Amino acid sequence: MAVIVKKGNIPATPHTEFYAIPNVLALEEIHGSIGFNGPYTRKLHVRSYPTEQSKLPQAADFSLITKTIADIPLQPYHILTQKIPFEKDFVRSRKPLLVGSKTVLSVSKPKLNLKENEFFRNGERHELIYVQDGIGVLKTEYGELEIRKGLYLVIPKGTIYKIDLTSSEAFFLIVESQFPITFPPHYMNKDGQATLMAPIVETEIEIPKFVEPLDKQGEYVLYIKHNGGNVTAVTLSHHPFDISGWEGALYPFGFHIDNHHGISREIHTAPPMRQTFQSGDGNSCGFSVCSFKAQMEGWNPKDIPAPYAHSNVDSDEILFFASSTYTAREGVIGAGSVTFHPASLPHSPHGDAAAKSMKERAKVNNMLGIMVDTFFEDLLVTDIGYEYRDKEYALSWYKAANLLANK
Ligand SMILES: [Fe+2]
Repeated sequence: MAVIVKKGNIPATPHTEFYAIPNVLALEEIHGSIGFNGPYTRKLHVRSYPTEQSKLPQAADFSLITKTIADIPLQPYHILTQKIPFEKDFVRSRKPLLVGSKTVLSVSKPKLNLKENEFFRNGERHELIYVQDGIGVLKTEYGELEIRKGLYLVIPKGTIYKIDLTSSEAFFLIVESQFPITFPPHYMNKDGQATLMAPIVETEIEIPKFVEPLDKQGEYVLYIKHNGGNVTAVTLSHHPFDISGWEGALYPFGFHIDNHHGISREIHTAPPMRQTFQSGDGNSCGFSVCSFKAQMEGWNPKDIPAPYAHSNVDSDEILFFASSTYTAREGVIGAGSVTFHPASLPHSPHGDAAAKSMKERAKVNNMLGIMVDTFFEDLLVTDIGYEYRDKEYALSWYKAANLLANK
């Protein structure tokens, strides 16, 4: 994030003598990206280095390794996440559905919280979490953020955090990337502000509320995801939320989907006008995240609001349907559905969606969905994604056309 934030007590000059507790030298840590050259935050631990492990590391009692299935015929997917049970905590409940060399898409449907002394760190991927359902608090070393339906959480690789639910269950869509996830760089001016033409405003990010440092000794277990979904349990001798202050550009933040301020035009608006986030350079690697939220359809008297069939040959496309109202695929998908259209196949609306959509000209639609389009990265369906697939999805367009022909 380009917005530099300062919270708590921290010396103005980096790497200088500082005491948050009288006579106890505070210890600086840099949470940095792209070597020593990318966005970073410096934070001050009140007493202990973050390296102080009191037990030898152990494999965790769970793993997030993804398994794919070989030799499946090429096909589009509709993954019925509605059928995935609510269970366990937000880490153990993670179910990877689609995986590539740089990107993983999972859902998590927890109904429990981690124990008080347990925490999580994704040591190998940056995370974008979309809250489909549930309320609670994202607790991090940088502070706390209240979570609610419709909120995106951007959590940089290496952040220590946990999600404490106050609702009885929750539903999260999780997109992981090897690259930082930010607002699209083409929205930002050279001073880090979103331009006046962008659909987002950087001042609408939700920054963690600072919490006073916890200067506590004990046994604190940190589950670290690394090396392709392995999880190691590291035991720290002190509470990891022991920061007197922090300052920098790498920190978790929230952004509500309602704050994506849609841009419409006279004729159909292509997905890049709905882009909210980007990972990678936006051309040769990473992905684009688009928010399909309510916005005005084209007002040209002949506009067709439904999208055209398209073959985006360099992008695998994932759509998460936060609601079931989506003209192009209404009746096929439901709230919570994930569709996956590999780049090797075209995809399109079905049946009479194009004709029906003409009634929506110049009206505000009521769709709600999240799209992830990779750039030059093939995704594979995991064993879990395959298990929860609609087995006849590839026939859904043909069936709709037949139904229409026989009306
Ligand atoms: Fe598409």
